[in-house]
Amino acid sequence: MSQLTIRKYQPADRETLIDLWTIVFPDHPPHNEPEKVIDTKLAVDDLIFVATLGDRIVGACIAGYDGFRGWLYFVAVHPQCRRGGIGTGLVTHAMACLKELGCTKVNLQIRAANEAVAAFYKALGFAAEDRISMGAHTERY
Ligand SMILES: CC(C)(COP(=O)(O)OP(=O)(O)OC[C@H]1O[C@@H](n2cnc3c(N)ncnc32)[C@H](O)[C@@H]1OP(=O)(O)O)[C@@H](O)C(=O)NCCC(=O)NCCS
Repeated sequence: MSQLTIRKYQPADRETLIDLWTIVFPDHPPHNEPEKVIDTKLAVDDLIFVATLGDRIVGACIAGYDGFRGWLYFVAVHPQCRRGGIGTGLVTHAMACLKELGCTKVNLQIRAANEAVAAFYKALGFAAEDRISMGAHTERY
């Protein structure tokens, strides 16, 4: 079996990463189109990570650091490759990179009904916190 490697995204990964995110997040709204997500992220920094088995991209995630908190987004493992530790490897790698940047705490949001993903993050040491998550789109400002 090929060895799992986790590394930063490279331009040659683009099409395969778009395919992966399209498979894993088929109902993404237009503002979360994978092409757009990659381009807007790379305009700010390069914290996109991919997990590869041989030359195949089997997982990916985005990390963010705003100088205060870190964030994780779009953590995805190909449906055929789940429950083998790839998701854990990706998050662990992203957390270590954020720590290296000086980040001391990482937050993330998941849908309240997504118990499987909550179990995944709990297994990684994340805990639900007593906060109300709020958001607004900038277009109204
Ligand atoms: C969540 C996700 C990234 C997990 O990836 P993965 O490679 O399967 O995760 P791991 O193999 O590292 O799982 C580690 C542990 O997390 C827990 N876990 C993972 N998936 C789980 C599930 N579906 N149900 C319950 N617990 C789960 C288990 O404790 C697991 O350990 P075990 O397999 O020894 O029991 C993957 O299921 C996925 O891509 N889901 C769809 C996308 C998504 O919703 N992403 C998160 C929102 S950004």
